[in-house]
Amino acid sequence: MTSRAMPSRSEHSGPFRVGDRVQLTGPKGRRHTITLEPGGIFHSHRGLIEHNNLLGCPDGSVITNQAGVPYLALRPLLSDFVMSMPRGAAIVYPKDAAQILVQADIFPGATVVEAGVGSGALSLWLLRAIGASGHLYSFERRDDFAAIARGNIATFHGFEPPHFTLTVGELGEALPATVAAASVDRVVLDMLAPWECLPAVSTALRAGGIVLCYIATATQLSRVTEAIRATGRYTEPQASETMVRGWHVQGLAVRPDHRMIAHTGFLLTARLLSPGTILPEKKLKLSKSDYNDEDVEMWTPGALGERVVSDKNIRRRARRAGASASAAATEGGTDSGPARGIRDERNR
Ligand SMILES: C[S@@+](CC[C@H](N)C(=O)[O-])C[C@H]1O[C@@H](n2cnc3c(N)ncnc32)[C@H](O)[C@@H]1O
Repeated sequence: MTSRAMPSRSEHSGPFRVGDRVQLTGPKGRRHTITLEPGGIFHSHRGLIEHNNLLGCPDGSVITNQAGVPYLALRPLLSDFVMSMPRGAAIVYPKDAAQILVQADIFPGATVVEAGVGSGALSLWLLRAIGASGHLYSFERRDDFAAIARGNIATFHGFEPPHFTLTVGELGEALPATVAAASVDRVVLDMLAPWECLPAVSTALRAGGIVLCYIATATQLSRVTEAIRATGRYTEPQASETMVRGWHVQGLAVRPDHRMIAHTGFLLTARLLSPGTILPEKKLKLSKSDYNDEDVEMWTPGALGERVVSDKNIRRRARRAGASASAAATEGGTDSGPARGIRDERNR
């Protein structure tokens, strides 16, 4: 860790300076990210660009390489960075990160616990949202993934942020040794079995704090929801998923994109009650979709207004169908229409 201060607003804007990351987009939309250094050179099969030619240019400039090929130069956004950084585990996509920040109510100055860290994508969003006055305690059980996350976070910030503590270990065991009981505002869990960590999470959270689980499958969603309910220590869990559909907007061709990221994961949130609080039993208002055994009995086709056809009638229809089939087989079908028996049946 260096003593460098947190990135200031000026580091996100203004003319390009030494040490800035710049995203170059070529004519075919291919992106390359470079870090500006005096005398540095960006090489591609289309030619080269001297870093010195970018230094001092405003963000959002077009620069041509030595062969005259134009490149758009912009500081990369955090979403650009997370989508292109090295990955160990699958990352939380920006669409879900956005919802996580809102649904977990991540605020500047918050003390947040996160596990597992994976590649560090969500950590970067959390670090930005809590700011230098907050603290992010991140836990990852795999030291190889933790190393990737540490590298990505240091690359993005230019140093390891002082408001970030990464612990390698199982959350359930490492959390009580890292944070004091009832000292954490928010816990975000992105792991296979979040229900296993609930005892440690419930101890670490302050009353009124939020636990948010990001889970990939419906079975995990069901299991963690029931596990949270069973503790009796949380508000009723709220589940959702987020679908973002891009649109193609060009002239009169305005339509949804043909492709989209349809499923990534579900979000589940609940708030910790103060010790000893018992949630008032929810008075369920009967909705039209509620039903009991008696209702099920009522849902016979007859009760629902469907015409009841007697067995005798069915047997008669079957005989007629058989006769029609035999007649069709004897006479053969004609090109002009169905066999007579069939036409007869239709005319009835
Ligand atoms: C899908 S990845 C997390 C991705 C991360 N949120 C990101 O955006 O890059 C899940 C991670 O949780 C870790 N993990 C699973 N159970 C854990 C536990 N009990 N304690 C700590 N880490 C755990 C796994 O090793 C894995 O790296």
